[in-house]
Amino acid sequence: MQIEQGVTHAIVTGAASGLGRATARALAANGVLVSVFDINEAEGKRVADDIGGMFHRVDITSEESALQGFSDARAAFGQERILVHCAMTTKGGKTVGRDRATGGWTRMSSEDYAFSAMGILVASYRMASISALGMVEHAEPLEDGERGVITLTASIAAEDAQVGQVAYGSCKAGVNGLILPMARDLMDQGVRFNSIMPGIMSTPPVHALPEKVFQVLNDSVPFPKRLGKPEEYASLVLELVRNSYFNGQNIRLDGAIRMPPR
Ligand SMILES: NC(=O)c1ccc[n+]([C@@H]2O[C@H](COP(=O)([O-])OP(=O)(O)OC[C@H]3O[C@@H](n4cnc5c(N)ncnc54)[C@H](O)[C@@H]3O)[C@@H](O)[C@H]2O)c1
Repeated sequence: MQIEQGVTHAIVTGAASGLGRATARALAANGVLVSVFDINEAEGKRVADDIGGMFHRVDITSEESALQGFSDARAAFGQERILVHCAMTTKGGKTVGRDRATGGWTRMSSEDYAFSAMGILVASYRMASISALGMVEHAEPLEDGERGVITLTASIAAEDAQVGQVAYGSCKAGVNGLILPMARDLMDQGVRFNSIMPGIMSTPPVHALPEKVFQVLNDSVPFPKRLGKPEEYASLVLELVRNSYFNGQNIRLDGAIRMPPR
């Protein structure tokens, strides 16, 4: 899709931090009007102000909040042609493991599993389907009949989740699983869907890990021997926007890393 400077509107979720923030900045630097969706108001507003975009406080786990956010963003910048969904909520834990307090065996509760399912898989479906409906109803077809492009964020944990990542890994695999059926469902309306599986990227959650773990992660990347840069994620998003032949793909962005079991 060709970006129309000052006209093309993109919604980026989780854009107050990390990969979403880098993507919001890169899109804005390329002339896109960006709506910043996040629950972090202070940082979200700061990012939006920096890039000449607009902040909307949206909780991706709430249908009501999401619908309101899309409606407000469209009222301000028109129908979005680009959605990049980065936000998520999850809880770690093993399928069966030792309870720290009692020392006995315990399993991850279905409620804790459902927290990740709602925060990753259902939220991805919610944001993508709301955006796709808007594109079908309100975006005029461009060249090749294209109306819009949607990028979801999975993880390499979708393919090689480690111990303690049963919920995160399986729900991110579900995000990958949305891509082909959604691309097929919208094939006659010209909406494309892809997902990116980032490896270990240099963002706040990774920097919050203990120094020793952080160093092991750094050293474990085959090449380049470093964490991924949020700008490298953003650059791939831009390519997925511009190159209309990308559709129905789950793409690893990981320096050839394959995660061991633990
Ligand atoms: N950083 C990595 O190494 C890495 C690796 C693989 C996948 N990912 C994926 O990339 C995405 C972004 O991760 P990041 O590292 O940039 O994280 P981050 O913590 O830097 O940014 C996440 C943003 O999402 C926002 N957010 C959290 N819950 C929200 C909610 N309910 N509604 C709206 N916004 C909410 C946060 O406020 C934050 O601004 C996630 O989906 C993550 O699973 C990251």
